[in-house]
Amino acid sequence: MSSEETTDPTTETESLADSPSAGMERSTERRGTGRTVIEAQDINVYYGETQALSDISMSILEGEVTALIGPSGCGKSTFLRCINRMNDLIDSCRVDGRILLQGKNVYDDDVDPVALRRRVGMVFQKPNPFPKSIYDNVSYGLKIQGYDGDIDKRVEESLRGAALWDEVKDQLDSSGLDLSGGQQQRLCIARAIAPDPEVILMDEPASALDPVATSKIEDLIDDLAEDYTVVIVTHNMQQAARISDKTAVFLTGGELVEFDETNRIFENPKSDRVEDYITGKFG
Ligand SMILES: Nc1ncnc2c1ncn2[C@@H]1O[C@H](COP(=O)(O)OP(=O)(O)O)[C@@H](O)[C@H]1O
Ligand SMILES: [Mg+2]
Repeated sequence: MSSEETTDPTTETESLADSPSAGMERSTERRGTGRTVIEAQDINVYYGETQALSDISMSILEGEVTALIGPSGCGKSTFLRCINRMNDLIDSCRVDGRILLQGKNVYDDDVDPVALRRRVGMVFQKPNPFPKSIYDNVSYGLKIQGYDGDIDKRVEESLRGAALWDEVKDQLDSSGLDLSGGQQQRLCIARAIAPDPEVILMDEPASALDPVATSKIEDLIDDLAEDYTVVIVTHNMQQAARISDKTAVFLTGGELVEFDETNRIFENPKSDRVEDYITGKFG
C-alpha cells in the first residue's frame, strides 16, 4: 500500500485563512507566446430551463496554465465541458455562443467531436482508467484513430510525459486499475497526451488524491505547460495560485466575474465579490 492510495476527501478542504498567494514559488518560466488558442464568445449554457452559465467570454493563451476557480455549482465544469463538447453527451444541455479553437468554432457542423477531443484532451476528478492494461490504456486511442507511427514509442513517451514511466515500465501488461489513485490519475494524463493534443482540460484532477499525490500532479502540470495549453478547474485556491498563470473567477449565477494574471487576482482583486470569495468570506 503506498501512501497515495488514501483518498481522504478531507484533504481537499484547506484553511481559507491562509493567504492563497503565500506558496507562489513556481520554478520554470512558461513559454507563453501570447497567441490565443481558445476564445469563448458569449457562452450561455442551459440544463433544461435552468441557466448554468451566463455570457462567458474569455481568451485562453497558448502555453499558459489557466485556472478556473469559484464555489461549487457556479459552472466551472460546465464551462470546461463546452470547450471539447463533452456537454453534447448531456441530453438536457444546450450551449449557445461560440468556442473558437485556433480560430475555428468547435460548434460548426463540420467539426467531428471525437476528433476535437483528441485535440482537446480531458482529465477528470476521479481517475477513470479503462479496465485494461497500462499499455492498452495509453495505446487505445492511438489504435482507434489509426495512428501509423510507432505505438510502443508513443506509449513510452506519453508515460514519461505523465511522470509515470519509471514506476510502471516493468508492468505495462498489468491492469491500470491495480495502480494507486495518484498513479491512476497520471495514467489518465498519459492517455490524454498520447494523441498529442493542443489543449488539456483538467477538472479538479487532484481533489480525490492525498497531499503527496497532489503535489506530484501539480509538478506534472508545471511540466505539461512546457508543451501544452492547460485549463484546470480547482476549488483549491492555493493550488490555483501555485500552478496557474491566469485565473478566472466564476461566481454564483454562472458568471465570470474576474479574469486576469493569477498574481493580480489574488493580491488585488477588483471586484468586492471576488475579494470576499478569495479571502474566505463566503464560498
Ligand atoms: N448534467 C446536469 N444536469 C442538470 N444540471 C446540471 C448538470 N450538470 C451541472 N448542472 C447544474 O449546473 C450548474 C453548474 O454546475 P457545474 O458546472 O457542475 O458547477 P461547478 O463545476 O462549478 O461545481 C449547477 O447548478 C448544477 O446543478
Ligand atoms: Mg465541477
